[in-house]
Amino acid sequence: MEDCKKAFKRYRLRPRMLRDVANRQFSTSVLGHPVSFPICISPTAGQGFADIEGDKATAKAAESLNTIMIVSNCAFFTYKDISLAAPNAMLWFQMHLYKDRAVTRFLVTHAERAGFKAVVITVDAPVIGNRRGMKRGVMMAPREKYRMVNYYDPNNPEIRSAIANGDISLWEYATDQLVTTETWDGIKWLRGITKLPIVVKGVLTGNSAIEAVQAGVDAILVSAHGGRQLDGVLATIDALPEVVKAIKGSGVEVYMDGGVRMGTDVFKALALGARTVFLGRPILWGLANDGENGVKKVLEIVRDEFSLTMALTGCSKLDDIKASMVVHESQYLSKL
Ligand SMILES: Cc1cc2nc3c(=O)[nH]c(=O)nc-3n(C[C@H](O)[C@H](O)[C@H](O)COP(=O)(O)O)c2cc1C
Repeated sequence: MEDCKKAFKRYRLRPRMLRDVANRQFSTSVLGHPVSFPICISPTAGQGFADIEGDKATAKAAESLNTIMIVSNCAFFTYKDISLAAPNAMLWFQMHLYKDRAVTRFLVTHAERAGFKAVVITVDAPVIGNRRGMKRGVMMAPREKYRMVNYYDPNNPEIRSAIANGDISLWEYATDQLVTTETWDGIKWLRGITKLPIVVKGVLTGNSAIEAVQAGVDAILVSAHGGRQLDGVLATIDALPEVVKAIKGSGVEVYMDGGVRMGTDVFKALALGARTVFLGRPILWGLANDGENGVKKVLEIVRDEFSLTMALTGCSKLDDIKASMVVHESQYLSKL
């Protein structure tokens, strides 16, 4: 993730002077849903470790600030609990294409019924990366807790039978359900069974973006999974322009996450073609610090910095943010 953060610093801003920036307007829409600002919440597993109310507190913060939260398939609460906690929140549901298609279908159908507005398929995890931090025990899930409260509602008979009689933890179950043989045909299959918009998360190249569009997705989230999957991949802000260019004119929206920490990062991502950014770790930090209020505070800080960046670059609306206002510093290096 350090790579993604550092990559932002290599882009420089080219501000415009003497524009009227007294009123700045940055509300927008994402997949047709109005949001107050182009800063949304990436899915993160294990929010219950950060705060007892976990995903419910995050959903309430998203609801009160009117932005989108992607709920992880490894949330601490069922999707019903989360949507009941924040009935007006715009919730999207993140999952994988699971080995057991019945489970995949079950989860999508129930997310739809619970009022989730989109399904986000993480495509960068045919297997789980080598997470040394987790192996060292930094973030080990207490098995009992995962078994008790997780989103694969263990009380549901369909899911219960799928969880192999409760002999394994849900994390193990979920990772065992990842399919190394999965292809874009899985997305086409999903397109056929749900009316929800489909977002693919984890695309990093133009070629994959084109394949995603051909498979029928509605949006692409450029992501390196917070550096937790493949080591040494492109920084997401570097990958973004290629993805945007590859699918230009398709009508498919492009978002990004990874290393977004400041308002200037949001500005750079939007200038390079993202419709919105998503935050992963900063949300967990806010949650750990002060629950729902902490998440709100983090979003407000980044929002206010973004507003300040707009003022200082001479932008009063999102359409004023142009690719020409961001330049990679390599363009200023000597060619000798
Ligand atoms: C603790 C943690 C848990 C995560 N869990 C998930 C997950 O369940 N599903 C997923 O698609 N991505 C997951 N991610 C990746 C995030 O969605 C996101 O891509 C990444 O954190 C963005 O980078 P940032 O943390 O620099 O903002 C997780 C990341 C972290 C740090």
